[in-house]
Amino acid sequence: MPVPMLDLKAQFATIRDEVTAALLGAVESQQFIMGPAVGELECALAGYCRTREAIACASGTDALLLPLKSQLKPGDEVITSPFTFFATAGAIWNAGGKPVFVDIDPGTFNLDVEQVEAAITPRTRALLPVHLYGQMAPMERLLDIAGTHGLMVVEDCAQAIGARRQIHGTWRMAGELGTVGAFSFFPSKNLGGYGDGGMMVTQDAALGERLRKLRTHGGAKQYHHDEVGTNSRLDTIQAAVLKVKLPHLDGWNTARRAHAAAYSAMFAGVEGVTPPVTDAANEHIFHQYTVRTPRRDHVVERLKARGIGCAVYYPRPLHLQPCFAPLGYRQGQFPEAERASHEVVSLPIYPELTSGQRDEVVAAVRATLA
Ligand SMILES: Cc1ncc(COP(=O)(O)O)c(C=O)c1O
Repeated sequence: MPVPMLDLKAQFATIRDEVTAALLGAVESQQFIMGPAVGELECALAGYCRTREAIACASGTDALLLPLKSQLKPGDEVITSPFTFFATAGAIWNAGGKPVFVDIDPGTFNLDVEQVEAAITPRTRALLPVHLYGQMAPMERLLDIAGTHGLMVVEDCAQAIGARRQIHGTWRMAGELGTVGAFSFFPSKNLGGYGDGGMMVTQDAALGERLRKLRTHGGAKQYHHDEVGTNSRLDTIQAAVLKVKLPHLDGWNTARRAHAAAYSAMFAGVEGVTPPVTDAANEHIFHQYTVRTPRRDHVVERLKARGIGCAVYYPRPLHLQPCFAPLGYRQGQFPEAERASHEVVSLPIYPELTSGQRDEVVAAVRATLA
């Protein structure tokens, strides 16, 4: 039985009536740009993330770019992970900054905090941790470093909406503690729209105001431009869909966690497969269920041949991307990121996955390794 990597149709079937009513409402309003659903979603998401402000924008990429643009001077350095989606470092570059990479922790695939401090220079302006695959980076330690050195912290929460971390006995949400948290509503995300979309969250009201301006060409008032911004709004239609989906998010994330636990139990003791590690302080939302296997390319090829969905996030770390050659990094510089890029494979995980499909995936992985 083939198993898709993701089955958005299965999710749509569970919310069809709610979503179609919301879409129809948005269309009937004919307020396609900044219609009421946008502000309502912002309010709901600020509540969900426990932040003072939430500012919708056109994509997760822009949700990273706009806050960086608002703070960076040309050549300012931003410390981030080389093992992430391209947008993380691309946003730093496009904001006029210089990505400075630090290797990852081999267990969680997130930034190795031990190495962050050594990468700080007088030009460092920000830290940009990525909550990869759905679990948070150790924010408390990053915030300590940022506090000591006067740095801004932009959290790349694109894969981690609803993820939590227990810090000094209190659960804190992804996006709650950084200067800004950046979310993506790309359709495959845990909270996915029906097109591109993003959201910035912050506790800083003045910064929130600034970001609101930057997403509409730098002006709060029409045809008055305090600074040069861009057009990065979230469509009303997307906000209407996301508003319907948000109340389902915790349930969907719980279902993902249950699938992950079942997978990990089934992979325990299977030679050649290392299940993902969850930091004890984290509640993971398993945007991806990513295992390591030394025979990764063979496994991917065989799974695909059997109709089992799988994907490699990410096959080439960012310090080795041709476009970043001017930064002067070389092969071997970040051994954990490089090893991960050769060993990781993500397996199908979505709330509607059935236990039968899960069994099928595990059996296929075992067979490819036999
Ligand atoms: C870690 C990470 N950062 C940023 C982004 C960019 O989000 P978007 O595709 O909405 O621009 C993504 C989306 O894939 C991502 O996974």
